[in-house]
Amino acid sequence: MKKIKHLLDLKNTPEEWIEEVFKVATSFKEVLTRPLKKVPALRGKTVVNLFFEPSTRTRISFEMAAKFLSADVINFSTSVSSIQKGESLLDTLRNIESLSADIVVVRDSSPGTPYILSKYTQASVVNAGDGTHSHPTQALLDMFTVKQKKGRLEGLKVLIVGDILHSRVARSNIEGFTKFGAQVSVCGPANLIPFYISDWKVKVYYDFDQALEDKDVIIMLRIQRERQNTGYIPSLREYRYLYSLNKERFHRLKKDTLIMHPGPVNWDIEISSKIKPYVHPLILEQVNNGLAIRMAVLYLLSQG
Ligand code: CP
Repeated sequence: MKKIKHLLDLKNTPEEWIEEVFKVATSFKEVLTRPLKKVPALRGKTVVNLFFEPSTRTRISFEMAAKFLSADVINFSTSVSSIQKGESLLDTLRNIESLSADIVVVRDSSPGTPYILSKYTQASVVNAGDGTHSHPTQALLDMFTVKQKKGRLEGLKVLIVGDILHSRVARSNIEGFTKFGAQVSVCGPANLIPFYISDWKVKVYYDFDQALEDKDVIIMLRIQRERQNTGYIPSLREYRYLYSLNKERFHRLKKDTLIMHPGPVNWDIEISSKIKPYVHPLILEQVNNGLAIRMAVLYLLSQG
């Protein structure tokens, strides 16, 4: 298997490395069912979590993943760091590197931050979400969840619904699922579909009722109000009417369609709370799989 130093996106990540992530994650999933969940794979290594943007799932799951692998973990927060005193991001990284970090996990609101950091450090860099650009570990856990449920990715019809324009989850899932031969479609209001969509190998729908008919997997995206400084949608009421997965639409799906969401979910906007008992278990399983996937990513990067 080709080893890699950094995980920045899925576009430039070899297929065989992703296959290895799935294989290792399957073993770690078994470890997570044991009463004692710790393995010594990263003993003596240091993982630094640099989160400059809010996160619940990704940050906690990277922290737990590193701890279960017996790494030393440092959680860096901008509110208590010298970034508040004007220290640059790069100088912050260099200082962290001087303290012998082996893997740096970065989330930032600016697209490209993990790429820049990876050029200036000896440590491995993992992109934990860079603005609207990329979120590779989310896509890996989504693909892993689908593979576990369906036994394959090739030939599956995957629909991603919502704010495609601002979604790093959509971009990474498009890169990942198409790499493995799935047929990916996107659906959303016209002004939340990027104009460069024609560069991607995806089918575009604007009508959710038309799009959902024959799909094997539907990934509902969160409406990102924090990134929408202008009125991309006339109202949440209209968005919900046209694009929410409600009870009526849910009953029209194939019986084995997987409904997924990266979280956090705005219930009654992206998905009706009336169908929460049916869809929430799989969304929580995605979070659980995220732990095994992040353990596998940290483990394989430490080998590279
Ligand atoms: N899915 C996801 O990235 O969630 P967080 O923002 O809570 O990490």
